[in-house]
Amino acid sequence: VTATIKVDAGQVKPISEHLVGIFFEDINYAADGGLYAELIQNRDFEYSVKDGSREGWDNGYAWSVRQLEGASTVTIASENPLHENNPHYAVLQVKPGVTLQNDGFDGISLKKGERYDFSLFARLPENSKGGKILVRLLDQAGKEVAQSAVHVSSKEWKQQRTVLIANADVHAAVLSLEPKLTGTVHLDMISLFPQNTFKGRKNGLRADLAQTLADLHPRFVRFPGGCVAHGDGVDNIYDWKGSIGALEERKPLRNLWGYHQTRGLGYHEYFLFCEDMGAEPVPVVAAGVPCQNSGTCSHHSVGELGCGGQQGGIPMEEMPQYVQDVLDLIEYANGDAKKTVWGKKRAQAGHPRPFNLKYIGIGNEDLITDIFEERFTMIFNAVKEKYPEVTVIGTVGPFYEGSDYEEGWKFASKIGIPMVDEHYYNTPGWFINNQDFYDRYDRNKAKVYLGEYAAHLPGRPNNIETALAEALYLTSVERNADVVTMTSYAPLLAKEGHTQWNPDLIYFNNTEVKPTVGYYAQQMYGQNVGSEYIASSVTLDNTQDAVEKRIGVSVVRDGKTGDMIVKLVNLLPVAVNAQVELPSLEGMDTTAVKTVLAGKPTDKQTRPVSGTMEVSEKFGYELPAYSFTVIRINKN
Ligand code: AHR
Repeated sequence: VTATIKVDAGQVKPISEHLVGIFFEDINYAADGGLYAELIQNRDFEYSVKDGSREGWDNGYAWSVRQLEGASTVTIASENPLHENNPHYAVLQVKPGVTLQNDGFDGISLKKGERYDFSLFARLPENSKGGKILVRLLDQAGKEVAQSAVHVSSKEWKQQRTVLIANADVHAAVLSLEPKLTGTVHLDMISLFPQNTFKGRKNGLRADLAQTLADLHPRFVRFPGGCVAHGDGVDNIYDWKGSIGALEERKPLRNLWGYHQTRGLGYHEYFLFCEDMGAEPVPVVAAGVPCQNSGTCSHHSVGELGCGGQQGGIPMEEMPQYVQDVLDLIEYANGDAKKTVWGKKRAQAGHPRPFNLKYIGIGNEDLITDIFEERFTMIFNAVKEKYPEVTVIGTVGPFYEGSDYEEGWKFASKIGIPMVDEHYYNTPGWFINNQDFYDRYDRNKAKVYLGEYAAHLPGRPNNIETALAEALYLTSVERNADVVTMTSYAPLLAKEGHTQWNPDLIYFNNTEVKPTVGYYAQQMYGQNVGSEYIASSVTLDNTQDAVEKRIGVSVVRDGKTGDMIVKLVNLLPVAVNAQVELPSLEGMDTTAVKTVLAGKPTDKQTRPVSGTMEVSEKFGYELPAYSFTVIRINKN
């Protein structure tokens, strides 16, 4: 196949510079046991039979007692707790040799020479005598790899800290606490954190995972979901206020994907992560209604998410407070550190400078019912009035036959929502055949945030075929990036052995991060966004529709650097010999950087390869079979 690609410098339009970002949801153990670097599972003893479907999932989950003899000496209590939001703690009766152990999340992974911050809250009841608690990390064979101690003498809850240094690499260590005191000790918030977190932040993120996300160069981060944002019942809505402040005061929350959220990774940490990556924060709050507000899920099977619970939305008499909570969130992000209540709280959390929030999402894939409309409108009007500079992103939800997508658009137009969130998970064929999806969009209506999308094959592997279908589709999205402002692949992260959804962009376990080929396609976009789209035409010697649709071209210019970026996708099983005609290259470096992702459709392991190539105003380039190429021509 041969192709002539003509880039037309006369047809240029400004496009969104925020086009490629990430969507973070705590699904597949993405947060606790994943991006959040805490190594102790159920540190707060707040796991509950209500959060999880697994056997033994209760306040004692992941903890065990080893003792020389006699009956179990640990119980869970809730009288006079550390904080009312964190009502349970462990009561350990000290007998000779008794140890309280934690397995972490599939074990605790340690690196030789690295330092780990250990802390706990402890209290001695009447008649107990203080002493030390030996803190040890043991490898799989029970051999000690780190040791330290904390001292407990207080009758009131008091935090104790120490640092452990691992003397070996261990894949799956356990934490072992051995009290050397007399009587009983109360323990809570038992934590072990690597000092090596992303950007070295305390209570921070797992360095390798966070760096993998940063390497995508995301222009924004949407959080905390997805379904997690609106929950599967009114009582499960993600209340942002419960996710900030001192860790022991945060409100743990049942995760509707079948586990527990400590919310140690909460709103403040999300804002920090955005700042650390230079990405815009895009928080999404519930529109006053939970998942599919009737309580039954239309596109998830009932029970899959725990849906089918409470019906309706937040009672109308409670909505004024809910609306205030949303306004308070914006104040937390942007308010003056001295003059505003929530700005002060941000400053107390260590960040006096505002986070400069520009967007807020309201709702997620909600059914467009009266219950929804009424509540959404209240929140929308309040935000518009108090913070007209913040763009509200509404929801039109999933795009599939029988969904409320059309209803969502009608409602958005009726009340003038400036941007809406669309979602679609479809086959590669759908993405190939619907590249004109946004060509048809009315430029006078709301802008689009394509908040969740992915190409799914039966059995749902993530391979070159799905990655190229996404890359091809994104050439058409760039063409329409005057109306599509942001996009994010979903879901982002998945812990091996703990996935509720496939495919995902990045898989991981405790020691490895495994980006998929889809990740690299996203990265090639993220690292090569533009602010101007330059129109181009493609003429093939084979004009069959099925052939033409498998070639995608997009040319953009990055206004900041002046670089011109050419993206070429070939989803044909044969190479395409292209003649590329560019506008003037005056002032440009004719040695361009070329990055190619190519392989067989079923390949999952292929990685992009970068090099240089010579370009001119007319140059030949062979697009390999099944490939995505980015050619970046730098301004001198
Ligand atoms: O991305 C996984 C889920 O898909 C999200 O939580 C939800 O918004 C969508 O249905």
